[in-house]
Amino acid sequence: MADFIGAVDQGTTSTRFMVFDHDGAEVARHQLEHEQVLPRAGWVEHNPLEIWDRTQTVIGSALTRAGLSGSDLAAIGITNQRETSIVWDRRTGRPFHNAIVWQDTRTDSIAKALDADERGQTIRHKAGLPPATYFSAGKVQWILENVDGAREAAERGDALFGTLDTWLVWNLTGGPRGGIHATDVTNASRTMLMDLTTLDWDDELLGFFDIPRRMLPDIHASSDDTAYGTTSGERGTAKVPITGVLGDQQAATVGQVCFEPGEAKNTYGTGNFLLLNTGTELVRSENGLLTTVAYQFGSAAPVYALEGSIAVTGSAVQWLRDQLGIISGASEIEGLAAQVDDTGGVYFVPAFSGLFAPYWRSDARGAIVGLSRFNTNAHLARATLEAICYQSRDVADAMTADSGVRIETLRVDGGVTANRLCMQLQADILGVPVSKPVVAETTALGAAYAAGLAAGFWSGTEELRSKWAEAERWEPQWSDDQRRDGYAGWRKAVERTLDWVDVD
Ligand SMILES: Nc1ncnc2c1ncn2[C@@H]1O[C@H](COP(=O)(O)OP(=O)(O)OP(=O)(O)O)[C@@H](O)[C@H]1O
Ligand SMILES: [Mg+2]
Repeated sequence: MADFIGAVDQGTTSTRFMVFDHDGAEVARHQLEHEQVLPRAGWVEHNPLEIWDRTQTVIGSALTRAGLSGSDLAAIGITNQRETSIVWDRRTGRPFHNAIVWQDTRTDSIAKALDADERGQTIRHKAGLPPATYFSAGKVQWILENVDGAREAAERGDALFGTLDTWLVWNLTGGPRGGIHATDVTNASRTMLMDLTTLDWDDELLGFFDIPRRMLPDIHASSDDTAYGTTSGERGTAKVPITGVLGDQQAATVGQVCFEPGEAKNTYGTGNFLLLNTGTELVRSENGLLTTVAYQFGSAAPVYALEGSIAVTGSAVQWLRDQLGIISGASEIEGLAAQVDDTGGVYFVPAFSGLFAPYWRSDARGAIVGLSRFNTNAHLARATLEAICYQSRDVADAMTADSGVRIETLRVDGGVTANRLCMQLQADILGVPVSKPVVAETTALGAAYAAGLAAGFWSGTEELRSKWAEAERWEPQWSDDQRRDGYAGWRKAVERTLDWVDVD
């Protein structure tokens, strides 16, 4: 058997291809950013053809750099930014419109209308999600209603819908020449169109958005040795079976080997995503969390998760860099924040696109509160790091309330975890230890694990579990009083951001 597994990680800001060996160690990677298309306030788009081009380039160049070819890969896994939606023409592969990204809020009125009557409750119950601009279905409805010819093509069966996993699988397996139109249970669980118990598209939900069933991909397990086909081998991508597909946050859950109920991980990237494995039991949230599929391996029962999704964490650091210009690179925030011992009473709530979990308030907008003449850039930098941690605390508390599980150690990964001060603050604000693994690229690793399980490259979850190793750990240092008072201030600051945007 070939010695390596490949993984495509198609993220919000970049696409990377990584190659892992049997120990789960990285042997190659290449990564390329793509353009963030921002046509107006609240709208965020990507060009699907640019992403497909980047994907082919990073696969080819990562292999070349490592002196490998496709025949060295036993299988490929694909993981992706979730919810971001594309509708394209199956005859040509041309998208009808740019991809509408998960952060895009143009479908606010669609989401609000659903919540104005009992359809909102139906969506919550069947899909495990609150109606929100975040999820795919409203984005697809928007394209069908606003792009000439899209609805007719969808009714005829010529228009296909897919999230990024589906777009890449279809293109990698031949595109207009026999491409496979498929998705996995984790990605499907983010559309508002799948029933979490049947793991199938639901006609009532499809009716809410007026989406023709024939434009939807087939839903398969996250780890499957045949359903996703074999790459067609164009442009140096080689003929390799695709045997793992799962959304980025679910992939990180797998990469962090959270295979037991009660195990959780928190990923700090553009946003933050805390997922708690709830086993084969579907836990419905009463505290503003999502119920989602964590993974399904082969013919085994699906494993569910509770998820707390936070829209703005690492991207608040980018905002300090790009919009305010108080740092010139993300890594500078640590030194700036370390110039002061505390935030000097400042709180920053980065509710740029409303607040996601556990609040789900699209009428919220960002606020910096508690300012006095004394405050400096350093206080704001520190308040930004604390905001990342307080938002995670909000979600962790909701998780305990929903599941009764108190997280004993928080497993972390993602770009922001390079910031040691931020991780120390997280331990302080949560009051539990924070632990980071040796392989920080857990998203790509999880996709590789899913693919490798299906291909027989790894024997099972026990073998994967044995590969996890801790690299760093942070213990809480704040007193209980400090933790309580700090959090009380945060809750007051969040209150100040609500009811800001007038509902039309
Ligand atoms: N030292 C640092 N301190 C704080 N934040 C940081 C630091 N380094 C990177 N970041 C933030 O981490 C984020 C990138 O994290 P990561 O690389 O995990 O995201 P990503 O997986 O590429 O994102 P996506 O999947 O959304 O494309 C950026 O928002 C950046 O601002
Ligand atoms: Mg990512």
